[in-house]
Formats: sequence, C-alpha cells, structure tokens
Amino acid sequence: MTDVQLGMPELPAPDYPADVRARLEADAREVIARYPDSRSALLPLLHLVQSEEGHVTRTGMRFCAEVLGLTTAEVTAVATFYTMYRRKPSGDYQVGVCTNTLCAVMGGDAIFEELKQHLGVGNKETTEDGKVTLEHIECNAACDFAPVVMVNWEFFDNQTPESAKRLVDDLRAGRPVTPTRGAPLCTFRETARILAGFPDTRPGAVEAGGGAGPASLIGLKLAKGEALPPRVVHPRGETAEEPPRDRAPHDRPIAGSGHLSSHDAPQQTSASDPKHPAGPVSEEGE
Ligand code: FES
Repeated sequence: MTDVQLGMPELPAPDYPADVRARLEADAREVIARYPDSRSALLPLLHLVQSEEGHVTRTGMRFCAEVLGLTTAEVTAVATFYTMYRRKPSGDYQVGVCTNTLCAVMGGDAIFEELKQHLGVGNKETTEDGKVTLEHIECNAACDFAPVVMVNWEFFDNQTPESAKRLVDDLRAGRPVTPTRGAPLCTFRETARILAGFPDTRPGAVEAGGGAGPASLIGLKLAKGEALPPRVVHPRGETAEEPPRDRAPHDRPIAGSGHLSSHDAPQQTSASDPKHPAGPVSEEGE
C-alpha cells in the first residue's frame, strides 16, 4: 500500500543528478523556445525525460512541471493519458502488434498470441533479458499492410506469426533488422529523443523519409493522373490478366496475386456474381 493510500502525503520525487539536470535543462530550453506558450512543450518534454530513463518517472514529471511552471498533477494527468509514455521500466524494443479490427482479422490476433507464447510474456511485459516489451496496439493507419507490427514505432508490414517470431528473435540476439519502410530502427530511448524534436542524425535516416508504401500511394497517383490498370471485378472462377511488366519494381503486384498488396484483390461479393446480381429489390420480387 502506498503512502497516498494510507492517507500520508506522497514523498517528493528525487531530483536528477546535477549533471543530468543541467543537460536536460539545456535541451528543455531548446524545446520550449519553439512554442509561443511554454506549456505547449509538455508533450515533447515528456518524450525527452522518457529518453533519459526509458520511461516517464516521477522525477521526470517533476522536472517537466518545474521547467514549465505547471503542477505535477497537471503533468501526471497528461503523462498517464497517452499510451506512448511508458510508466514503468521496459525493453529496448517495444514490439507493438496491431490488434485493431482489420489487423486482427488478417492475423494480428494470432501473431499476438504466438508472440506471447514465444516470448513467455503477456501484454506490456518485458522479456527477462530486458530486450523486448510486447504490447498490443491500436490502428497505426497502415491497414493496407495488415497485419502490422511496429517496433519502436517503425513499420513491419504484412507480418505472419513466423516472421514476427523471427523478428523478435533477431532483436533479442542483436542481429540487424530493417523496417519495411521509413527510417532505420533505433532503441526506444533514441526513438524518444527523436520524438522530443531533436534531429535524427543517423546516416540514411533523413533520406528514408516518410513511410508510405505503394498500396498507400495509389490515391495520390490517381490524383496526379498517373494511370493505374483499371480495377476489374471478375466473375467467380475467372482470373485477372497478368498486369504489364514495365511497372517499377515497388509497384509490381505481389507474386501470384495480380494486386499491389495481398489485401486489395477484388473480393467475391454479390456484385461479382452474375447469378446473384446486386441491386434494389424489385417490387415484383417482394
Ligand atoms: S487496423 Fe492495424 S494498422 Fe489499421
């Protein structure tokens, strides 16, 4: 039972060592200067203190409150609201399995269950070696590559239970892993510092740019007038024609599917069934 539960005032959070405090204050001044109102810097400053200790401690929240002129209650309310802030020590690699609706039905639930068994941990728990924290996450707007796994917020698209197990094995063994798109992977603390607004100076990180993949860019291509093969709904039993082979490699359909991702294939619906055409029910038929 805590002091608060016993009705006793909670002990103040300890301060950082002087050298750490001086370094964080310099960083905080740089972040705060970007905003017209200092309290607007609270979210990046929470990432900053998270980069220091790997999670948001009471010391970190006290620091944020002091440099922003807020109460610790105000800082705590924000830090406990957003799931990107961790409240207890965890692993170098946060492995988030999307179990939101689309990823779940495409295999996300199965991936999450298999990783729990494989790693011997539950949701928000960390492996004994301190390398991997597993958690299920909500939709990360990458539904066209479902099921998606994110490691420290970098995308690993179109995962399977087997590929996800290989991924966590590589992370734990220190073998290099490469996200499907976007910047190279770094540790959770390094990610937190980038999220605090400090430039990612690693070679190749800037060039990697954003993270949109070909399936996500189809709408943009259409808007630019870059023609794509017409999308045809084929009657059951017939297969799509092979698409032209002069397309850029990243735009080619995945092997054997005839489609840009494994999930954009025409579905068998009543609209594709000539024996059961869709449409308004006629009055005679009622
Ligand atoms: S449902 Fe998983 S990324 Fe959207």
